[in-house]
Amino acid sequence: MNWRAKHLLGIEHLGPDEITTLLDLADQYVSLNRQQIKHRDTLAGLTQINMFFENSTRTQASFELAGKRLGADVMNMAMQASSIKKGETLIDTAMTLNAMHPDLLVVRHPHSGAVNLLADKVNCAVLNAGDGRHEHPTQALLDALTIRRAKGRLHRLSIAICGDIAHSRVARSNILLLGKMENRIRLIGPPTLMPSQVAEFGVEVFEDMREGLQDVDVVMMLRLQRERMDGGFIPSEREYYHRYGLDAEKLAYAKPDAIVMHPGPMNRGVEIDGTLADDINRSVIQEQVEMGVAVRMAAMELLIQARQPKGVLV
Ligand code: NCD
Repeated sequence: MNWRAKHLLGIEHLGPDEITTLLDLADQYVSLNRQQIKHRDTLAGLTQINMFFENSTRTQASFELAGKRLGADVMNMAMQASSIKKGETLIDTAMTLNAMHPDLLVVRHPHSGAVNLLADKVNCAVLNAGDGRHEHPTQALLDALTIRRAKGRLHRLSIAICGDIAHSRVARSNILLLGKMENRIRLIGPPTLMPSQVAEFGVEVFEDMREGLQDVDVVMMLRLQRERMDGGFIPSEREYYHRYGLDAEKLAYAKPDAIVMHPGPMNRGVEIDGTLADDINRSVIQEQVEMGVAVRMAAMELLIQARQPKGVLV
């Protein structure tokens, strides 16, 4: 097994061999999660603390289930009601938690880089559950597992990432991961929603959806992230849907067996047609959620193993 990382802060620091190791282990957890009894003792006796400074439904639930299925003691901090609201800094909160000896800290934070900062201050493994526009590594890994299972491979595929790229940590982590695994990546969206450094990404950029979707294997849609916009990035939601919303007509430009993905939460009728999102012949959106639990189980197990003193078997 090839795994060296002590924290999972981003895809940036992972090698292709580590990505493959994690996905192979996650595949085994998909099988376990489909059985009636889903329990393992891999993390028994260990403590996992989830700190979400931004709202989350699926990511938080997924990390909580993943820890519980591996036997960890899982605690969800109610960050809205925490001492942060009384003026405590992120670092002070981290130091306080560190004194309680957790083994795994799962953190989501609105500021890019906040999770890396925190990882420097604590003794345990830190998993980034999304920091600002920076990275969301477990989302990219669960997307990769979904693609690998649907397409039978994770290399030399043509993958379109569409919509609000500029504000998306999901896009950033996916561009890094899919690039490391040698796929062809196309970014599709209006120029106002493209990151300024897009030329450095080694990807093709399209403004026209139909042109960009031509013959792709995978169509990954992104949510229009209003909460990160401070001005007029799009004319109107209606106009946006007309030009960039994925529906059956636009999808027809992709390969006939192309799959449709979305990290959720979805804005039906804004970036994606609701009927298409529910079409089990094309959409793998529910599989993505299923893969999420398995990928997070694998990630936590590998981080804990990487921290065992040499020679100790787990
Ligand atoms: C994403 C996120 O939070 O970055 N959602 C998720 O984790 N499933 C994408 C989004 O919010 O649009």
